[in-house]
Amino acid sequence: MSTEETLKQLVNGFAGAALLTDAQGILITANLRARALFPALMEGRLVSGVIRNSDFQDSLQQVLEGGRSTDVAFVLRKPSKRHLGANIIGINGERQERFVFIHLRDREEEENLARMRMNFIASASHELRTPLASLLGFIETLQGAAKDDPVAREQFLDIMAVQAHRMQRLLDDLLSLSRIEMEAHAVPEGRVDMNALAERVVETMRLQARERGVTLNLIRDAELAVARGNEDQLEQVAQNLISNAITYGGDGGEVRIRVRPLPADHKHGPRIAFSVRDFGPGISREHIPHLTERFYRVDKQASRNRGGTGLGLAIVKHLVQAHRGTLKIRSRPGAGAKFTVEIPAADE
Ligand SMILES: Nc1ncnc2c1ncn2[C@@H]1O[C@H](COP(=O)(O)OP(=O)(O)O)[C@@H](O)[C@H]1O
Ligand SMILES: [Mg+2]
Repeated sequence: MSTEETLKQLVNGFAGAALLTDAQGILITANLRARALFPALMEGRLVSGVIRNSDFQDSLQQVLEGGRSTDVAFVLRKPSKRHLGANIIGINGERQERFVFIHLRDREEEENLARMRMNFIASASHELRTPLASLLGFIETLQGAAKDDPVAREQFLDIMAVQAHRMQRLLDDLLSLSRIEMEAHAVPEGRVDMNALAERVVETMRLQARERGVTLNLIRDAELAVARGNEDQLEQVAQNLISNAITYGGDGGEVRIRVRPLPADHKHGPRIAFSVRDFGPGISREHIPHLTERFYRVDKQASRNRGGTGLGLAIVKHLVQAHRGTLKIRSRPGAGAKFTVEIPAADE
């Protein structure tokens, strides 16, 4: 195979945005990711006519003239502002030809990811710091002022237990979230009987529901509703959604859980829909798109008082994504809320 053929295969198989030029800087090939960044790229045309930035163009020119490979950061202003990076690599072919391989990166995406990671760590530390500070405060009090007061001691120990459990739940949720993220690329392949799963989860939550004066009603539309997935993970999805409905929508007195097979349509194959509907106060529109963000709560204090970590729906979203399913949230203030998860059905 010629050097050119080999390099073309590299570009087209490359995971990032990549393109290849000849010794004049004329495009030989660009992969789909590169075309998505620069739809005007055309074979047989100069790349510097499309990626119009002088820092980029100068660097490319140097490499075309035999200079060393470089990595250049630049900002494009048109059609919209974009922060890009280009790794430009000169390659000499077997018959004196010269090629230039370019890897383009969206630096904004990279910076956003880095920022998200930083924010996440900051929020997680903050969430842990609050109960920790309270624990330290009570320990100090028990060592000092309340040393010989058995009544106060009992009371403080109770509060301390609540705070310690809160930290434990937070750590559990953080760990499951990071485990789910690490495994996100692998689609769970088991067969899960969603009717039986819903029944099981509802039974384990009846007591919690009764304590809040809530009746759980399970509706199963069909005898058979088998999803493709991981049983423990789907159980966690169901549990988080039902627990939220009881906690935040319990005022409505009823939570309705439904399992419904959906036939294939033009967009999806057959799926199993699992929905949890409550008749509580509902959620106003501006909050809905943010509910699955980590640590996002409509009312921070209400969530904390009820033992929430702010991670339940983030975990649901990630688990559903790992199953290649979807999560829909429907709600209006005063009209309750409905969370629907659709998971691909298992093969017959
Ligand atoms: N059924 C519901 N009705 C009203 N608000 C809800 C409902 N489910 C979730 N929420 C809101 O979404 C927020 C995030 O939920 P979640 O991620 O499970 O965290 P947590 O329950 O720990 O606060 C909750 O704090 C609450 O404000
Ligand atoms: Mg929750």
